Amino acid sequence: MSDNLPRARKSDPARDLLAWYDAHARELPWRAPPGAPPADPYRVWLSEVMLQQTQVATVKPYFEKFTARWPDFAALAAAEDADLMAAWAGLGYYARARNLLACARAVAQDHGGALPRTESELRALPGIGGYTAAAVAAIAFGERAVVVDANVERVVSRLFALEAPLPAAKPRIHALADTITPERRAGDFAQAMMDLGSMICTARAPKCLLCPLQRDCAAFAEGAPETYPRKTPKAVRPQRHGTFFWVEQDGAVLLVRRPDKGLLGGMRALPTGPWQATPPGTEGAPVRADWHISETIVSHGFTHFRLDVALAKTSVTVRPEIDSGIWWPVDEMEAAGLPTVFAKAARAFGRERCAI
Ligand code: ADE
Ligand code: SF4
Repeated sequence: MSDNLPRARKSDPARDLLAWYDAHARELPWRAPPGAPPADPYRVWLSEVMLQQTQVATVKPYFEKFTARWPDFAALAAAEDADLMAAWAGLGYYARARNLLACARAVAQDHGGALPRTESELRALPGIGGYTAAAVAAIAFGERAVVVDANVERVVSRLFALEAPLPAAKPRIHALADTITPERRAGDFAQAMMDLGSMICTARAPKCLLCPLQRDCAAFAEGAPETYPRKTPKAVRPQRHGTFFWVEQDGAVLLVRRPDKGLLGGMRALPTGPWQATPPGTEGAPVRADWHISETIVSHGFTHFRLDVALAKTSVTVRPEIDSGIWWPVDEMEAAGLPTVFAKAARAFGRERCAI
């Protein structure tokens, strides 16, 4: 149809997208403005690690807090593990925080305090996978790299009306993204795709009428862009049950440091029994005691399962010796840096305490 009409310009999605980005880029604390020289690689790397599984709005205050406290690789490399883990609390996926520290130390020790600039060298560092290596190479160093996060997957699958379902289609999506990634301004292009995905090409009700890529978009032409990306139906998350224990003595509560390996490894936490398919009662309690079991159940969603937690409380007159135990002032629980599920439980215990 339109092939018979005179066309002002050849189709060029990267050019159209970059022009849109020049006018509409989000201002974010780790970003250089469109067309400007790249931002500080430390800030780009830190933001990309934080953004791996967490939304922009959640990351912003953490990013400000981290960069104020640890302004560069040398400062972060010198941080105490426990301080960093506590500052990370609430961002989730704590392996990222352990890798963040390991990466800062590797950069300080093995790379003279500066990140390497190529994707392959970046990939060799702790916590830097394919996505982050590409994002940092493009955004911090202006290297041409193909950056594909969930937003980009959605945009690309729509542009090409890709029938293959996620997650199997990931390599295909990467190859298609490669075909539209420009030689120049790859970092701006990557961030433009992310901004388009979060502001225009949204999961539900994409705003195609405002989209700079509309004339190149196969899913728009078909008429049902919101039905992409196709997805393989996912298995339901299993439900698990656990009990958290609140042992109080003279205004302090017993916390433990979780084993380094495994879920929430290395984090301060309330003592907990096993997490299993049926409620474990007081199995695994840290002390022998008369437990008061609350009516409240705290629920939390992890990546691979859901957890319902019963709350068991007791008070003791003498502090028992507990491996890796720490007695923490009840009035300062917010400063303990507990992971979200434990912070929720601690607040629930705190409310009950007030109600008595
Ligand atoms: N998500 C991951 N990296 C991002 C970035 N640089 N800008 C906006 N959203 C992002
Ligand atoms: Fe997404 Fe619509 Fe733009 Fe296509 S036209 S890229 S579906 S917003």
